[in-house]
Amino acid sequence: MSLLLIAKDRDMNPWKEALLAVDKNLDVEVWPRVEQKDRVTFAVSWNHPKEVLGAYPNLKVVSSLGAGADHLLKDEAIPESVKLARVMIPSLKSQMGEYVLNAIQNYRFHTSRYVDQKREAYWSKHDAVPKSDCAVGILGMGEMGEAVADLLLNNGFLVNGWSVTKKGIEGVNSFGAKELDDFLAQSNILVCLLPLTKETNGILELDLFKKIKQPSYLINVARGGHLVEEDLIYALDTGVLSGACLDVFEEEPLPENHLFWNRPKIMITPHVASITDPNEAAAQIVENYKRSLSGMELLNEVDRGKGY
Ligand code: NAP
Ligand code: GLV
Repeated sequence: MSLLLIAKDRDMNPWKEALLAVDKNLDVEVWPRVEQKDRVTFAVSWNHPKEVLGAYPNLKVVSSLGAGADHLLKDEAIPESVKLARVMIPSLKSQMGEYVLNAIQNYRFHTSRYVDQKREAYWSKHDAVPKSDCAVGILGMGEMGEAVADLLLNNGFLVNGWSVTKKGIEGVNSFGAKELDDFLAQSNILVCLLPLTKETNGILELDLFKKIKQPSYLINVARGGHLVEEDLIYALDTGVLSGACLDVFEEEPLPENHLFWNRPKIMITPHVASITDPNEAAAQIVENYKRSLSGMELLNEVDRGKGY
């Protein structure tokens, strides 16, 4: 029996070391140099090349190396009988909270304008956006959304949360699936933390932007597929949105000639909002590997029916 580490754009050797530090007897293979495909029962993946996992006849579980499992769900080469899981560790949540808080403060205090002004040696003051105009609306109140809400509440922000099932989180104004319009009407800063599913694909579009309370700002830290890119440009150009901070994109890396690069109202980071630490995640992965071998329920199993 062996465990496979597979990623298209990431060095998986630190992952191998971290797993072996948990259990030095583990048999770990790192794609693409796999000795015996038929011995692999458990794979840990980040954006693996599609179709490849179809060649592993005894695969029982594929775990995402991160919180999102959309990259696994869209790979038709993974048979339906293979269980899917994801990693959920405390630092994923705390990093996301800090990223979102920082993005909000950068917006409020005009950080990117001052960076531009310094380049030009130009002295000009801009009023900070008051907190009263910064009601935050979090789309997706799962592991990440709840952690972000907690940090924002502790920093004095009003927080609204939208999810399929209405939550009862202390201090958060909760909205259920059918209450999206009310949620948007009470939120200035929209933070997308939804999983990418059939229902949420393209959810960040012009009609939705028009329903956000003014002044409005968008933070997308979920997936590029949530955003209709041309609608964002239109919303920024017509003043529907005052700015946006984007960490995720339909195509990553964002192509050099992409329109977003030259837009001063768009802050861009290269998918770094929250990165899984192999040393923290390894114990959870080994635990799930053990569980899969003995047929036990997995930790953080993905519900294929719901798509997250
Ligand atoms: P999660 O725990 O699965 O939570 C998802 C939340 O979205 C749940 O509250 C769910 O509602 C809600 N939701 C799902 N579909 C919905 C719909 N159609 N309408 C309304 N609400 C809906 O996910 P998570 O761990 O918080 O992560 C969220 C996403 O963040 C990931 O999928 C990933 O794409 C992204 N992410 C990005 C980074 C980065 O570095 N940029 C890092 C980590 C994660 P219920 O609670 O009612 O089911
Ligand atoms: C990162 O995007 C993750 O899903 O963990």
